[in-house]
Amino acid sequence: ADALKIGIAGLGTVGASLVRILQDRHETLATTCGRAIEITAVTARDRSKDRGVDLAGITWFDDAVSLASQGGIDVFVELMGGTGDPAYASVKAALTHGVHVVTANKALLAAHGIELAEIAEKHGALLNYEAAVAGGIPVIKALRESMTGNTISRVYGIMNGTCNYILTKMEKEGLSFEACLKEAQRLGYAEADPAFDIEGNDTAHKLSILTSLAFGTAIAADDIYLEGITNISIEDIQAAADLGYRIKLLGVAQRTESGIEQRVHPTMVPHDTVIAQVDGVTNAVAIESDILGELLMVGPGAGGDATASAVLGDIADIAKSRPGAQHVPAFGRPANALLPYKRARMQ
Ligand code: NAP
Ligand code: HSE
Repeated sequence: ADALKIGIAGLGTVGASLVRILQDRHETLATTCGRAIEITAVTARDRSKDRGVDLAGITWFDDAVSLASQGGIDVFVELMGGTGDPAYASVKAALTHGVHVVTANKALLAAHGIELAEIAEKHGALLNYEAAVAGGIPVIKALRESMTGNTISRVYGIMNGTCNYILTKMEKEGLSFEACLKEAQRLGYAEADPAFDIEGNDTAHKLSILTSLAFGTAIAADDIYLEGITNISIEDIQAAADLGYRIKLLGVAQRTESGIEQRVHPTMVPHDTVIAQVDGVTNAVAIESDILGELLMVGPGAGGDATASAVLGDIADIAKSRPGAQHVPAFGRPANALLPYKRARMQ
């Protein structure tokens, strides 16, 4: 079969990891997927930056929209971030041209996910976004595919690696909030604007995507009770520990009698639970449902390689798919019961 041609927009923490992994594993992937995966085009802001990867023979585009629509590619991989352009315009341009999209951009999906999913379906393109929630944990696949038919009552967990890293380091090493955040940034865990991490918005973006998949609702990231970790002190963490708890930033979405409730806030979690023991950049997502029961997935939640692993899985799925095959819709079908949202209030 012909090689799958991919174009990558964004060569930062995730993009550079992806390029390196695709190049290192070129032969193995070709065998596994039944066709080679070739990076034929890339773009980023600064063409002269050394990214520690070999870009020889790859066409450089000066803007992401041209790459997406005129790059001669089968898959557009969006790893720039942000809800505005060029992320929004380029993803839209790719889908409109029938080019499949793989993205790790939860902020974009929280703002425009349903619209983009509709454009994808209309033009026979796939919109894959496993890396957008909980890094390398395959939670999108679990909700979108494996758990079809289950009625889900609750989805919750630790969905931001930066915050969990900060809370863990503060507790275990007694370091200041600022020092821990700096380290998370150095390790490539934090968002370009880390306020999104520490103020809880990133968790809210991810939660809103999971809620939509779990309950068949519209994405409603603005309808989430939101509290980040900026006010948590070492004294708070110590006081919680003395009472037998650890403080975790949780995202929670649950079915109630009057609608779907979504909230993000620091939570005192009993010390002897699995979630309480999840340390560092690790994430954990629990899904409670009627057929399967409780599923708990724990794994790397951020970082270049962990995130690139999920992006790679999405690309490989496309490489393995055959023309004309039925696609899994990017979000729930409109036929799903659209439940109303209930504004969450802290008790
Ligand atoms: P990053 O290190 O800041 O890299 C962003 C890349 O996008 C850079 O290469 C940058 O170019 C490029 N870029 C930014 N604005 C651009 C523009 N206007 N036109 C062209 N290129 C542009 O970000 P990242 O950590 O890799 O994250 C990328 C995406 O993955 C984001 O949506 C993020 O939320 C998501 N994500 C990240 C992680 C993680 O652990 N880092 C995990 C899951 C999801 P220059 O290099 O030239 O500046
Ligand atoms: N900034 C995000 C986090 C990246 O720390 O979880 C992964 O989505």
